[in-house]
Amino acid sequence: MKRITLTQFLIEQQRKAYVTADLRLLIEVVARAVKAISCNVAKGALAGVLGEAGSSNVQGEAQKKLDVIANEILLQANEWGGHLAAMASEEEEGIWKIPSDYPKGGYLLLFDPLDGSSNIDVNISVGTIFSVLRCPRNTIEPNEASFLQPGNTQVAAGYALYGPSTLLILTVGNGVHGFTLDREMGSFIYTHVDIRVPEQTNEYAINSSNARHWERPVRRYVDELQRGSLGPRAKDYNMRWVASMVADVHRILTRGGVFMYPVDERNRSQGGKLRLMYEANPMAMLVEQAGGAASTGHGRILDLQPERLHQRVPVMLGSRSEVEIIEAYHREAAASGG
Ligand code: AHG
Ligand code: MN
Ligand code: MN
Repeated sequence: MKRITLTQFLIEQQRKAYVTADLRLLIEVVARAVKAISCNVAKGALAGVLGEAGSSNVQGEAQKKLDVIANEILLQANEWGGHLAAMASEEEEGIWKIPSDYPKGGYLLLFDPLDGSSNIDVNISVGTIFSVLRCPRNTIEPNEASFLQPGNTQVAAGYALYGPSTLLILTVGNGVHGFTLDREMGSFIYTHVDIRVPEQTNEYAINSSNARHWERPVRRYVDELQRGSLGPRAKDYNMRWVASMVADVHRILTRGGVFMYPVDERNRSQGGKLRLMYEANPMAMLVEQAGGAASTGHGRILDLQPERLHQRVPVMLGSRSEVEIIEAYHREAAASGG
């Protein structure tokens, strides 16, 4: 079988006008950074990259060494190429300005450098998530407000999954495409053509240790799944929770199902657990591009107007019909007073 590299794939996307030359370069640079992160993740204890960094990020979360390493790799790889106006990261409080000695481009890059940090030290899959926006026209010096655009304006989104193999899953608004890292060759090979979320599902993903904190519609939905063949859904479901969003979403893109991180009693004041701009939005674009749906429970994630860079949101995504049921339960609960 003829092997198509990520570079060839992107050049063809450029010929078909799905990406500009600068966006192609941006994605290539992210892919290069992902290879470097993959090497660090794979070496683990041999490279001394496991464990705590001894610092915390703007969200008050303790940083792992790999959170810091992955963040630095992405920032350094992307700041000099001339394709970006600015960057934003889970691990940086403010936006990352392009140093004045480098040229600036027209795109904004946001990322979660290392997703699923709690899994690093137990050798379970982790990932990187990224989102690309256009810098608003006539911006001389981008600021945080330049980034606050709804997810439906993303021009590209993707994730890397550092699992048994390293995958890069990408959308430029033209379906979802997957590439596997060939470590000997050092290149990403197009292996997953036009990924679609299967509509039929018997799997769901939620951290059910939080069940007592959930709102009524989420309890109702999960309770019905758990009642299996004896309940209203009349079939048995299986539950999976990796606790790396990238791995959980990748399973959904592969086998269908639904992933939920709802707002609950503990995270209500923050609006949820997962971050809108570099977790929920890119994953929502990918899932929609693969024929699925992504909602807060009350509406489409991609239509939210962000108010803050590190804003958090409830996330329910996966097979379209399941997300529609979850939204219907939220509407019914609201109509009957919560
Ligand atoms: P991060 O490691 O970037 O902070 O993200 C972790 C997120 C997400 O990947 C995962 O779905 C969720 O947190 C896991 O949460 P619990 O620890 O509550 O299961
Ligand atoms: Mn994350
Ligand atoms: Mn992270």
